[in-house]
Amino acid sequence: MDLMQKIISFSKRRGFVFPSSEIYGGFNSSYDFGPLGVLLKNNIKKSWLDEMLKNQENIVGIDAAILMSPKVWQASGHLTAGFADELVECKKCHKRFKLDELKERECPECKGEITKPKQFNLMMKTFVGSTEDENTVAYLRPETCQGIYINFKNVMNSMRLKLPFGIAQIGKSFRNEITTKNFIFRMREFEQMEMQWFCDPKEEDKWFDYWKKQRLNWYYNLGLDKNKLRAKEIPEKERAHYAKKQVDIEYEFPFGWKEIEGIHNRGDWDLGQHSKSSGESLIYKDDKTGKEFIPHIIETSVGVERSLLAFLADAYSEVEGGRTKTTESTKEKEIVLKFDKKLSPFQVAVFPLLKNKPELVKKAKEVCKILKPYFMLQYDEGGSIGRRYRRQDEIGTLFCITIDFDTLEDSSVTVRDRDTMKQERVKIEKLAEYLGEKCS
Ligand code: GAP
Repeated sequence: MDLMQKIISFSKRRGFVFPSSEIYGGFNSSYDFGPLGVLLKNNIKKSWLDEMLKNQENIVGIDAAILMSPKVWQASGHLTAGFADELVECKKCHKRFKLDELKERECPECKGEITKPKQFNLMMKTFVGSTEDENTVAYLRPETCQGIYINFKNVMNSMRLKLPFGIAQIGKSFRNEITTKNFIFRMREFEQMEMQWFCDPKEEDKWFDYWKKQRLNWYYNLGLDKNKLRAKEIPEKERAHYAKKQVDIEYEFPFGWKEIEGIHNRGDWDLGQHSKSSGESLIYKDDKTGKEFIPHIIETSVGVERSLLAFLADAYSEVEGGRTKTTESTKEKEIVLKFDKKLSPFQVAVFPLLKNKPELVKKAKEVCKILKPYFMLQYDEGGSIGRRYRRQDEIGTLFCITIDFDTLEDSSVTVRDRDTMKQERVKIEKLAEYLGEKCS
């Protein structure tokens, strides 16, 4: 089994990601996030929001609607050729492909002849209201940032912001992708974390470089392997229609180097277009110089699921024969998810040494009650302690706590570290503080 197949089946077995509508045979490219996937996703989103709203200066949040006036998409260029892929179809097997994904001008499946390319718009259509005609057509947003641009003035005025400032948003986007593959890498429904930085045009290059560095640091700080990350400048002919300059942050997935985040200099494209189309002036007046201009935008845009796949692939490791050297190895292959402490779905697991000793179970549940307000925690009483450690290592839990007979005497527990596998005795009264320091 190749690494990607292993990650896919592991994700299902341990409750990270399930194929959507599985009992009906699945639904192409849709996935559901299970109990652990939700925790991981939330940790990624929290870490991104903390970075934008706490660690950086002058950035505020917004949560705009998915459905917007179709005029937004006319102005932004998404309804015109700007947001279309070149689609080709095999004349023999009728499979469809994106032209730029084909290595040869023939069907990769059956080697059949392919049709001439057609423009295929990726916007997903729906109808708003009780009739279905061209007057009620609406679109599911294909990027979250347009909701930021059309609220530029609302946000700036309500928060009394001065340039440069940023608006950050996390939300769902939809694209009718021609081909979806590589698990959750390319889907038709996904979440984006986008930050739009509004600045004086004179300063756009400085801010572009600043954001490129900051975004790379975010991945480094969350423990992604530096050797598997790179920033790639995108040449003009491959850039999105709105981008004057584009750098993609790429990660080396098991299926190759692929984009996980785009940093774009969108210039005055978006605010200019919305000014023209809506008739509402989106010009900014500098108080100090009196200069008036349309702010330029540096955008950072990352997919939640795509980054989750990078974090998961990066953390996934297999140890043949097991990690334990002190006791006779089980000779089984052990999986360890070496997530950064900010990303692990569970920080702590609590075990009574034996499940048939009510006094140990009672004490373990007391310890859970003490820790639960502070940590994402799992209680497990099934199987040997070794097996329980392995179950937790497999999902990246940082610390395992065992309540044994000594606990009943001296009110201390054994705390075992996922990475070093070292064990320490810690008093129950000090446990929350001890773990708090280690997890922060
Ligand atoms: N607002 C700019 C924008 O949307 P993009 O390069 O089209 O730029 C940004 O998308 C990020 O969104 C990508 O780097 C990727 O992480 C994520 N993304 C885009 N399309 C996706 C899809 N079909 N499935 C999953 N993630 C996607």
